[in-house]
Amino acid sequence: MTSFQSGIIAEASSDALFITFNINRDHLSLFKTTLNKIPTLVRDLQATYPTAELHAAIGFSDLVWDELDTQRPLHLARFPEIKGDEIHIPSTDVDMVMHLRSLRRDVTYQLANALFDALGASVSLVEEISGFKYLDNRDLTGFVDGTENPEGEQRKAVALVSEEDPSFEQGSYFNLMRFVHDLDKWQQQDLKTQEDTYGRTKYTNEEYPSEQKSVHAHTKRTSLKDENGKSMEILRHSMPFASLKEKGLMFASYSKTPAIFNQMLESMVKGDKQGNTDHLMKYTRATSGQAFFIPSNNWFLDRH
Ligand code: HEM
Repeated sequence: MTSFQSGIIAEASSDALFITFNINRDHLSLFKTTLNKIPTLVRDLQATYPTAELHAAIGFSDLVWDELDTQRPLHLARFPEIKGDEIHIPSTDVDMVMHLRSLRRDVTYQLANALFDALGASVSLVEEISGFKYLDNRDLTGFVDGTENPEGEQRKAVALVSEEDPSFEQGSYFNLMRFVHDLDKWQQQDLKTQEDTYGRTKYTNEEYPSEQKSVHAHTKRTSLKDENGKSMEILRHSMPFASLKEKGLMFASYSKTPAIFNQMLESMVKGDKQGNTDHLMKYTRATSGQAFFIPSNNWFLDRH
């Protein structure tokens, strides 16, 4: 039976590593032969630390896919660069991503290290960002993040490719963006302005009644409905990162199609029909935007 990589669906973790790589084309055959060892390597460490809730999701971008497989996921494409009047979302695709997470920093590190060792000279590290759970799952702006995520079986329905693309069932489209916050500017705003910016209350994490939400509120701009009036959903696993110099959010989301994420981003950056954009973007800046396909475990086992 085809199985999905557990990092796609698993509940929120307290520790995460977001690691991006490029593949060294002169070592492509070494790279490919290593791929089929990856599911076992992950499973072995999960078994060594059964209470750490260790999970991985490893995937590839449009830039390299055709060198790894003769078939391609239906909707795999580059990350869309979006230029609004005030907001610019860059497209910074790289070949490969590892989204690793657990309840223990040491265990996440061990998995990252084991994978990096196994891939050896076949990859070049692009970026490694360490994310952490902040308070009760808050973004560094102080608001709880992830509340309206799908729950239970709905998580799979939202995130996993199914019969619409039989060759890539149990895979998922992954979007990763690095946002750097201007927390000085944010902290100068009064509580009401901050809450209006999200359309939720800060301390009690309650959603505003719909008629009180500004058209510029983040939750207004990202709550989209399809032509049948059904909510369009993605599964988010974003996490804060911080040093004393730079603070922000690694936005991370999974979906059975990248179209939903792309529409949300358009709605934030270009706005509604009247051009009302997401005012959360006044306080943060995207420094990267990447799109990947996270194939099933079976796909890895089939690589030679
Ligand atoms: C909701 C934070 C970027 C999609 C939220 C919420 C917070 C938040 C605090 C409210 C609670 C909840 O999770 O339901 C942020 C921050 C971002 C960011 C700090 C960047 C700095 C994005 C992006 C997208 C997105 C880029 C998609 C393109 C959503 C969606 C919801 C949401 C779909 C749920 C809306 C609802 O149904 O109420 N976000 N977000 N977010 N965000 Fe973001």
